[in-house]
Amino acid sequence: MPDGLKIGNLAISPPVVLAPMAGVTNVPFRELCRRFGAGLYVSEMLGARAIVEEDERTLHLASFGPNESTKSIQLYATDPAAAAGAVERLIDLKGVHHVDFNFGCPAPKVTRHGGGAVLPYRHRLYGEIVSAAVKAAGAVPITVKFRMGIDDDHLTYIQAGRIAEDAGAAAVALHARTAEQLYSGQARWPAIGELKQAVTTIPVLGNGDVFEYADAEKMMAETGCDGVVVGRGCLGRPWLFRELAEGFAGLPMSRPPHLAEVVKIMVEHAQLLVDWFDEHRGIRSFRKHTSWYLKGYTVGRDVRTGLHAIETVDDIRAMFDGIDLAQPFPAEAASMPRGHTHGPRPVKVPYGYLEDPEAMGPLNAAAAVAVSGG
Ligand SMILES: Cc1cc2nc3c(=O)[nH]c(=O)nc-3n(C[C@H](O)[C@H](O)[C@H](O)COP(=O)(O)O)c2cc1C
Repeated sequence: MPDGLKIGNLAISPPVVLAPMAGVTNVPFRELCRRFGAGLYVSEMLGARAIVEEDERTLHLASFGPNESTKSIQLYATDPAAAAGAVERLIDLKGVHHVDFNFGCPAPKVTRHGGGAVLPYRHRLYGEIVSAAVKAAGAVPITVKFRMGIDDDHLTYIQAGRIAEDAGAAAVALHARTAEQLYSGQARWPAIGELKQAVTTIPVLGNGDVFEYADAEKMMAETGCDGVVVGRGCLGRPWLFRELAEGFAGLPMSRPPHLAEVVKIMVEHAQLLVDWFDEHRGIRSFRKHTSWYLKGYTVGRDVRTGLHAIETVDDIRAMFDGIDLAQPFPAEAASMPRGHTHGPRPVKVPYGYLEDPEAMGPLNAAAAVAVSGG
């Protein structure tokens, strides 16, 4: 089992990447995950246009914590000039070490303008975007993350992988579902194996349904991929990175935390968010994490609903008065659904989009507007 991964000039060991997740993988969450294990921790998705225009809010989101030695950003772009301009600015203004491009977003407001997961179908445009980003990046590695395609009749992943490789990308990552599938069913790992066969000179990362070290090991063994990208499995379980690090190092696995330790981690996470945003925004952004942290624990409905209404960090501790904090982590909770599970749903594409895979559009402003999601 390989224990290292090279993305351009970056050595990533263990071969684990925190998946970009909008509204989740901000500085506080990355900081928390980093405490448990090494790997590459990618920011949430930011719009290339907004970076080029030096939008203040977006630049704030493109910041890093003091312990982030590898500064990694994910961008959403629909045209080569914005992709290149954003990469240049991120290097100049933020000193980033890695930029990932999101071609996997299935949100209708993105795909209906030809962006996100449907963009690789217009393979010339896609290639130009990757190529422009690579040229602008110099020695900074550019990676590309995509899905299998629009739907089973319009699969693009093999072509998207080869184009990215030819354009000079440093690695590709496949979320092994189509845009139509969204998050439903199981990720189709054999597609990762096929991509690995097709893309031979740069690392191929597998993504989809890695919830435990055993999944990572199995995905790598079955597909030959060079590393794993982990998304929903770490929602409410940042210690998953410790398990992955231990597993890849061949060490015995630490036991998952008891509820008391989970509450402590929740408090830390909330405090980091409050320090990063402010109390109002930090606490509101933390509320969605509470149900992920409590998956499988017996805490009762009052605690769960109460946590969705907290106003301060201290409210978190108060919610657990009278609850049995010695409860161990329920083993079955590891693979319980966290975050998105929806789909399938037909994919919205612009009128006439499928008839012309050679076209160089979309180039309109609506397509460039980034929204959350992957
Ligand atoms: C809440 C949430 C937000 C996401 N946001 C993004 C995003 O901004 N960029 C992206 O490439 N993927 C995004 N994704 C997709 C994940 O990166 C990942 O590809 C997907 O969840 C499958 O991996 P998993 O099974 O390990 O979760 C998001 C997923 C979730 C659950």
